[in-house]
Amino acid sequence: MTINKATHGHWSSRFAFILAATGSAVGLGNIWKFPYITGENGGGAFVLVYLLCVVLIGIPIMIAETMLGRRAQSNPIEAMQQLTDEAQADKNWRYLGWLGVIAGVLILSYYSVIAGWASAYIFKDLFGSFFGIDATQSQTLFDNFTASPIQLIFWHSVFMAATMWIVAKGVNNGLEKSVRFLMPSLFVLLFLLVGYAMTTNSYQQGLDFMFNLDFSKLTGNAILTAMGHAFFTLSLGMGAIMVYGSYLPKDVSIAKTAYLIAAADTIVALLAGIAIFPLVFEHGLHPASGAGLIFQTLPIAFGNMTGGWLMGMLFFVLLVFAALSSSISLIEPAVAWLVENKNFTREKACLWTGLGTWFLGLGTVFSFNIWKDVVFFDKNIFQLLDYLTANVMLPIGGFAIAVFAGYIMKREHTESELQMPCTQSYDVWRILVRYVAPASIFLVFLHVVGVLG
Ligand code: PFF
Repeated sequence: MTINKATHGHWSSRFAFILAATGSAVGLGNIWKFPYITGENGGGAFVLVYLLCVVLIGIPIMIAETMLGRRAQSNPIEAMQQLTDEAQADKNWRYLGWLGVIAGVLILSYYSVIAGWASAYIFKDLFGSFFGIDATQSQTLFDNFTASPIQLIFWHSVFMAATMWIVAKGVNNGLEKSVRFLMPSLFVLLFLLVGYAMTTNSYQQGLDFMFNLDFSKLTGNAILTAMGHAFFTLSLGMGAIMVYGSYLPKDVSIAKTAYLIAAADTIVALLAGIAIFPLVFEHGLHPASGAGLIFQTLPIAFGNMTGGWLMGMLFFVLLVFAALSSSISLIEPAVAWLVENKNFTREKACLWTGLGTWFLGLGTVFSFNIWKDVVFFDKNIFQLLDYLTANVMLPIGGFAIAVFAGYIMKREHTESELQMPCTQSYDVWRILVRYVAPASIFLVFLHVVGVLG
């Protein structure tokens, strides 16, 4: 197979990698998904499991995945092939790359639809739809919007087109620049929203919901969802971080960057939760109202606070940008593979992957209207795609990455690639990636299928 290495770019610096990887990690997962699944799964205990998963499973796997990418300097499919050869391992390991490419396309198909909602909400804010709005009106606004396939298709198309346009511009131009200003602004806005939540009477109730531990609400599925979310929110288990790692210069410390990225990502999610739950309780909404949670609560805040019009617009603009910097990493593994292994031009690769993903996204669009009642295992198409990717494919991918980095790759290769500051930190990482992470993932799966009761 001919590999077009000349097309494989490099980040200009460690900072550029951190920006892009943080851009990938921070997105709808933090601001849209984390609050709504926390609400659906009973709050505090769920949050604790999620945090444990980030530390014990997420960070070690993030280090492993970045390392695999950098060592192979290739897209995930090609990278897994090369690393398998290097370690003289079973050829079937290369399917790991494929799993990632497929998961990325499936996730982007629904991610783009939700990002489309955020885009539409910029304009709803601009045209004053939130002005003086109460909880019932906000729910009606959301319900009417999602009932319209035409509107959802329109915004899904706009978002997909924007994503593919940025990806077509290539790693150094498109990806780096789009995340540079986003993150600090997002932090500022979230802090302002938390400040607003503090002025409500339900601030304490919101905090209690998020941090009081009530283990009676922690079902097996809640644990799986918390673990799956740790993968989803850190962009792990499907090759996105592997691709970004492959663009990382050789002299950069992988571990340090992983801590930074995980910390930033977690802080954004917690801030989003702290901003949203007080509003949920203040306005008599239900924490478990599902995927529409932030779209139903935040407009009430923006519609009733001074300067809310501007804040609302800025918030949804930033959310769309955060989503864009994640969506480009969801499709990058597929595009990089077509370019490097199949000799596609970047433009053509973007066109085809974009069209395919757009088409798949129609399943999610219709899940909120004409196919609302089409359910399998109690889930509509959107919920099924989300469950299959975040709760099944990413953890399986992560498990395989941990096993590959911990057992298949030679110790001297991982050691020299990671260049940890001391042997102790390398040993801790190795224990986490060989024992703790794979065993935890395995146990959670066993628990869900009922083997552990
Ligand atoms: N981490 C992104 C978010 O939290 O919104 C979603 C995501 C991006 C998942 C890239 C997986 C991925 F590879």
